[in-house]
Amino acid sequence: MSYLDALMHQAKEPVPSEPSKEKPSKKVLLDAYGDVKIYREPDEPLLLYEIQVPRYRGEEKRLVEALLEIALNVLPVQASALTAEEKRQQYFQKILEIIDGTPELKVPVNAKEFFAKAVVREMVGYGLIDDLTRDDELEEIMVIGKQKPVYVYHRKYEMMRTNVVFYDDGDIRNLADRIARAVNRRVDLQAPLLDARLPDGTRVNATIPPISLDGTTITLRKFKKDPLTVIDLIRYGTINFDAAAFLWLASDGMGAFPANVVISGGTASGKTTTLNMLSAFVPNSERIVSIEDTAELNLPLQHWIRLEVRPPGLEGSGEVSMDDLVKNSIRMRPDRIIVGEIRGQEGYTMFAAMNTGHRGVMGTLHANSAKETLVRLTSPPINVPLSMLSSLNLIIMQNRIHDRRKGTIRRITEIGELVPSEELAMPSLQILYQWDPVQDVLSSTGLSSFYLQLLSRYTGLSQDDLLREVQVRAGVLEQLSKQGIRSLEGVSDVTQNYLAKSRLKV
Ligand SMILES: Nc1ncnc2c1ncn2[C@@H]1O[C@H](COP(=O)(O)OP(=O)(O)O)[C@@H](O)[C@H]1O
Ligand SMILES: [Mg+2]
Repeated sequence: MSYLDALMHQAKEPVPSEPSKEKPSKKVLLDAYGDVKIYREPDEPLLLYEIQVPRYRGEEKRLVEALLEIALNVLPVQASALTAEEKRQQYFQKILEIIDGTPELKVPVNAKEFFAKAVVREMVGYGLIDDLTRDDELEEIMVIGKQKPVYVYHRKYEMMRTNVVFYDDGDIRNLADRIARAVNRRVDLQAPLLDARLPDGTRVNATIPPISLDGTTITLRKFKKDPLTVIDLIRYGTINFDAAAFLWLASDGMGAFPANVVISGGTASGKTTTLNMLSAFVPNSERIVSIEDTAELNLPLQHWIRLEVRPPGLEGSGEVSMDDLVKNSIRMRPDRIIVGEIRGQEGYTMFAAMNTGHRGVMGTLHANSAKETLVRLTSPPINVPLSMLSSLNLIIMQNRIHDRRKGTIRRITEIGELVPSEELAMPSLQILYQWDPVQDVLSSTGLSSFYLQLLSRYTGLSQDDLLREVQVRAGVLEQLSKQGIRSLEGVSDVTQNYLAKSRLKV
């Protein structure tokens, strides 16, 4: 048994107050990637996420601390031109040298790298939870207190326990302090709540006693570095080539009449992901302002300004709301306004902007059907007047479905459009694409699109020309898929190039 195996083995030993105590280890390996293993354990409602990590107690903790002290004394910690990754590499080598130069520490020969890595994580990473922060599959990392497992929210497996445990509140507090200092903030009795964004996009929240009763908590919401693209969504069956090509056309509107779009659905149905997909289609020549509660969008666009809400400070002042930001964005001469999530007054402001001629405005909304979407928009607290409603062109309905055979799937279940009606104040809703739950396919209803009719008017192209354009773009997406190009950069290189070329043709 290697030293690492021994460590992992040890972590399973019954230890008083350890959460997984005395469990017969009948765990079943479900998945493994990188250094991560995912297990199901009998009688455990949550899956187990396991990585190799030192236990922060006893001899191991003393060793990490001793090495850290030496390293902090001899290595420079001030800013340098190195990237974070280069710094890690440099420190890693230096700490291996320290280990070799200090035999009295008695670091086991076959665990030198393990301990060097642990010390690096303390110096330039997130300590014990560092590997968790580096796993792009994890959305959230939750430290809830000492002697309890750190929980994670996994993109695929959702809430999970991990084998990472802090044994001491002081260690959690140290980590919270270190994170706070990195953004020139602090967590202490005067400011027991920390809510901040780190330079890498991670959103951090920390609470300390007496606010949190059971000790320090840390919640990290990670920024997805490699977002799902249109090709991923097609591969997952969320959308098909045809509907994606239609939405692509709608999102640039041939450079003349981009659609105003609301993406609607339940919690975690994939609204933001679809918004990201659509926004990535916005031509690179346009000026985009995005407004979000928590910045999640990741766009390949050059001329993009990201605005994020600021919650009120402890004294209740200094708040900058979604609505403040949407109002401000209108004064920024945007070609596009993208509103992360419409919940209140900002929805009204957004519609007012659409009514005064802003095109290609996009946002998400929490609602369970297209009809409910209209009701939500027109009732408090959003209160869009009926007369303004039809400046919205498309509603995309997104659903998270628990399929008996396929597990959790996310589907675009409807793409509808608003058609103003002269007699009725309420525009009518026409469905262009409809998902069939039995066949699990999204297909065109064959109805003639009102939006394409408008687009035809603005471009001088006939509706047939526009339908052919959709077909050509579907072909472009099929090519991407065939060639296995799925990354944000790869996909948008091709789609942006396509737009640039067709601009030359016009
Ligand atoms: N079409 C999809 N297929 C598979 N996973 C998806 C899809 N859309 C989103 N996800 C994943 O589901 C989670 C929630 O997605 P998100 O877009 O944030 O939902 P919402 O904005 O509706 O709350 C994320 O982990 C995301 O990566
Ligand atoms: Mg969202």
